[in-house]
Amino acid sequence: MDETLRELEERGIVLDPTSGEAYGHAHGHDDDHDHHPGAGDDPAGGHTHPHRHAHGHAAPGDPPVVGIVGGGAVGPALGAALVRAGWPVGAIATRNPGRRARFQALVPGARAFAEAAALIDAVDLVILAVPDDALPEVAGSIRLYSGQAMVHTSGAIGAEVLEPAMAAGTQIGSFHPLVAFADTELAVGALRGATIAIEGDDQLAALLADMAEAIGATAVRLAPGSKAAYHAAAVLAAGGFVALLDAIAELGAVTGLDEGGSLSIYGRLIEQTLANARALGIERALTGPITRGDVGTLAGHLAAMRRHAPGALPLYVALAEREIALAERRGVLAPDVADLMRRSLAAAP
Ligand SMILES: NC(=O)c1ccc[n+]([C@@H]2O[C@H](COP(=O)([O-])OP(=O)(O)OC[C@H]3O[C@@H](n4cnc5c(N)ncnc54)[C@H](OP(=O)(O)O)[C@@H]3O)[C@@H](O)[C@H]2O)c1
Repeated sequence: MDETLRELEERGIVLDPTSGEAYGHAHGHDDDHDHHPGAGDDPAGGHTHPHRHAHGHAAPGDPPVVGIVGGGAVGPALGAALVRAGWPVGAIATRNPGRRARFQALVPGARAFAEAAALIDAVDLVILAVPDDALPEVAGSIRLYSGQAMVHTSGAIGAEVLEPAMAAGTQIGSFHPLVAFADTELAVGALRGATIAIEGDDQLAALLADMAEAIGATAVRLAPGSKAAYHAAAVLAAGGFVALLDAIAELGAVTGLDEGGSLSIYGRLIEQTLANARALGIERALTGPITRGDVGTLAGHLAAMRRHAPGALPLYVALAEREIALAERRGVLAPDVADLMRRSLAAAP
């Protein structure tokens, strides 16, 4: 992990200041806003009671009581990871009763609410794990109490989307795990060793770094303005890579391989290629007909794909163009051969 941190630092990704002050549970308990959407106290979120002094649930110096909004892929996995790491997870809000029950099975003792606004009274730190597009609506439905903080888990959107929920003495931020949350238990495992991009002022960032560390992950702070690019790369690495696997499996099917067969055969090649890129760098990891200038082989592939797997052709063409540029940059492809290849690709679809 030290090596990963060093690599990130060399690439301009600033490591999180874990040396900051612990989260200040003792500060600012002054109930200074009077506009609060109300507090739910029953599992359906239907009952409200007057607010007296809802925040500051954790003892000074202890981790804050966490509340999670969203019972989809991310919320339950984060809840399970945190509670197993000894952090108090006090409540879940999700509109779906089945998801509420599932969360409570994963996080025993957590209270469950239907509405995000209802959970506020039960927690110190709110994690919004709802779709990116729902963040403005959900943030707009909540008003934090002084001393509380709220973060979202989106990699694409800045923390400022949470501003509507702020009142005096509150903090907002984001906590984006670079993990593909396809299955709860797999995701809990994958959080160990993962990178979590955080945003927030120094005090909140210190807390979020502690939270990341507690679940076995490493917090990083990104260069200002780079979040969308960081996230686009993540989407290529996860969803984009799955799309590539799908195209590989489509071609594998032409040769009679089922999906498992393709994953087994080509998966080894993928692992080898990744290991080469790690050991030698991306440029030197490039192999195949393009590095050799095999124009005929390239034309053969295009013809075969036109015939057997036309759906995979545009992806092959786009990647081959990138490979040509890479081979030129490495100095292994003569300009005239590169030109021939580019013309062959342009005529492909
Ligand atoms: N999935 C990943 O691999 C991944 C990785 C890193 C970060 N993230 C980020 O984490 C966040 C959550 O992603 P996810 O994959 O967990 O999404 P998801 O599986 O679609 O779950 C989202 C949850 O949000 C709730 N929700 C949806 N619309 C809502 C609304 N208008 N108001 C209130 N609640 C609403 C839904 O709860 P109910 O319908 O049950 O109320 C659902 O349980 C996103 O910002 C995403 O970018 C995702």
